[in-house]
Amino acid sequence: MTKVAVLGSTNMDLVAYVDRAPERGETVTGREFRTVPGGKGANQAVAAARAGGDVMMIGAVGDDAYGPMMRENLELSGVDTDLLHTAEGPSGTAHIVVDAEGSNAIVVIPGANGTVTSLGPGEIAAIAEADLLLLQLELPLPAVIEGARAAHAQGVRTVLTPSPVQPLPAELLDCVDLLVPNEHEAAELSGQSEPHAAAEVLLSQVPAVVITLGSKGCLYAARGSRAVLFPAPEVTAVDTTGAGDTFVGTLAVALGEGRPVPQAIAWAASAAALCVQKPGASVSMPYRSEIGAA
Ligand code: ATP
Ligand code: RIB
Repeated sequence: MTKVAVLGSTNMDLVAYVDRAPERGETVTGREFRTVPGGKGANQAVAAARAGGDVMMIGAVGDDAYGPMMRENLELSGVDTDLLHTAEGPSGTAHIVVDAEGSNAIVVIPGANGTVTSLGPGEIAAIAEADLLLLQLELPLPAVIEGARAAHAQGVRTVLTPSPVQPLPAELLDCVDLLVPNEHEAAELSGQSEPHAAAEVLLSQVPAVVITLGSKGCLYAARGSRAVLFPAPEVTAVDTTGAGDTFVGTLAVALGEGRPVPQAIAWAASAAALCVQKPGASVSMPYRSEIGAA
C-alpha cells in the first residue's frame, strides 16, 4: 500500500451554484448553496485514500463547528487524522461560486491553516515514513518548505501543487520532485502562456512537471525526455472544484505502486473525470473500485 503524507489545508467549502458568476459590483440570484468539506490538502488526502493509499493528514482545523465535521469527513474516507491538530479560532473556509459550466472562482480564508507555521517531531517522523509527500500552498510557506526539506532529506518523493500561486523560493523548488500546476499557475510561474514553453522553463527548476489543462487533459514533461500530452476523458462537468486535487491524490498512489508514468496519469485523469461529474470537492471523489482500469 502506498504510504502518502499530506501536509496541507483543510477548509469548509461554502459553495454557491449560479447560472453566471457575478461581475464586479453586480448581484446575481443563485440556484443552490452547499457546505462541503474541502481544502487542497484534505482533498488530496481523501483522493489518495479512496484510490487505495495509506494516508496521513498533517495540518490544523479550528475549534468551531466545522473542525469536527472536516475531521470526520477525512476519517470516513480512511485518512489518519492523528496529526491534524485543533487550533483555537475558526477553521479555514473557501467561498466558492460555481457557474453553469461547472467552472469556479474561489476566495480562501486560511483560519486554522494559518497556525501551521512549523512542524514538530511527530510530523517530521510521519513524513520520513511516507513514500510520497503531497504539498500545496494553502499553509504558511515556512511550514511547506520545512516539510519539503524533511522529505527530500529522507528520499521521500515530493509532489507540489503550486496553488494559490505565488513566487516559489529556490529552497522549496530544490526539494520538489514533481510540480503539478494548472495552466494558469504554470503561466504565472514560468512567464510563458503556452504549456510546452511553460514546461520547458519549469524543468529548469524541478525534474518533472504535469501541467493540468482542465477538459483538455494534461502535459507531462520530465528532464531528458519529450513532453507528452494526455487527453482527458470526455464528460459533462457539473463542478470542477477538486479536479486537480483528485488528479494529484490518485496520481500519487499510482506512482507509489510503481506504475509507469503514462499509466499513472491515465488513471489519475479517469479519477478526475469522475470527480467533475458530481457537485462538491471531497464528496465527489471516486473510490478505487470506481476508477477505470488503465
Ligand atoms: P480545480 O482548481 O478546479 O480543482 P485545477 O484548476 O487545479 O482544478 P484542472 O486543470 O482544471 O485543475 O483539472 C485537473 C484535471 O482534472 C485535468 O487535467 C483533467 O484530467 C481533469 N478535468 C478537469 N476538468 C475536466 C473536464 N471538464 N472533463 C474531464 N476532465 C477534467
Ligand atoms: O482545490 C479545490 C479547493 O481549493 C477547494 O476545496 C477549496 O477549499 C480551495 O482550497
